[in-house]
Amino acid sequence: MKNILVIGSTGQIGSELTMKLRDIYGNDNVVCGYIPGAEPKGALLESGPAEIVDITNPDHIAAAVKKYNVDTIYNLAALLSATAEARPQLAWAIGVGGLYNTLEVARECGCAVFTPSSIGSFGKATPRVKTPQDTIQRPETIYGVTKVTGEMLSDYYTKRFGVDTRSVRFPGLISYTTPPGGGTTDYAVDIYYSAVRGEKFKCPLKPGTFMDMMYMPDALRAAIEIMEADPSRLVHRNSFNIASLSFDPEIIYNKIKEYVPDLEMEYVLDPLRQQIADSWPDSLDDTCAREEWDWKPQYDLDAMTKDMLVNLRKKLLVTA
Ligand code: SER
Repeated sequence: MKNILVIGSTGQIGSELTMKLRDIYGNDNVVCGYIPGAEPKGALLESGPAEIVDITNPDHIAAAVKKYNVDTIYNLAALLSATAEARPQLAWAIGVGGLYNTLEVARECGCAVFTPSSIGSFGKATPRVKTPQDTIQRPETIYGVTKVTGEMLSDYYTKRFGVDTRSVRFPGLISYTTPPGGGTTDYAVDIYYSAVRGEKFKCPLKPGTFMDMMYMPDALRAAIEIMEADPSRLVHRNSFNIASLSFDPEIIYNKIKEYVPDLEMEYVLDPLRQQIADSWPDSLDDTCAREEWDWKPQYDLDAMTKDMLVNLRKKLLVTA
């Protein structure tokens, strides 16, 4: 039986991953780690243990790991790309300092560690289409710099100290539960909210801006399956390309219009987000993940769009 600590449990990924891990491993065996100001609420609070775990404080991590006899840490603490550009020092403190704190506790206490990397770990020198697993990573954002550093530091802890670290490079994640904040791929979530609310969508990125995207249920499955994978099959660890969808604003707009014909979109470009998106790949090659731990996405754009619209309508109490 796994005892799991999720750091960043109330964020976009954490709020759903914690509940899914509780379904699989038992409510009492998954600790919701949160920071003051981002307290868990509702089912997340009521279904299992919760502790304040500020990743920049190693004592918080060590105390939670010892109290709950934790053997696996999901480290989801991060500032997304656009927010990180506004607060680069904090992005480093959380993304690299926080990961170092986590790896040190994991080394001392024998924990496995999952820390997501991102499409943001690539840069303009990276091959843009079908980006290979092992290729040039020279990101131009502080977000990307923390992600590449995190990949290397995690691999180092595995080779040097035997800490079981594993990771995937997440694309932009689309979900209806907890909104993302301050990311470059957030538009692909926001457009669904506009569609359901009957508002004109202001798109911050130009037509033709392709990026990898993924529906949250596939992302959660990836995070769990990589940690359950047979280690003898893993040639790579930090971090695996995973892929499912690649689209630009026009493609997602036209797909949603099939179900919400009145949806309107205008382009109101955000220069920072455009610059970041232009430095990221259009689509990743995830062959290694498929070969080494049988990764396979389940949602295409149509299936995701139907599910997003149904669930967002329920959430926002809008009748179809
Ligand atoms: N979704 C992230 C962002 O846009 C990328 O991993 O910052």
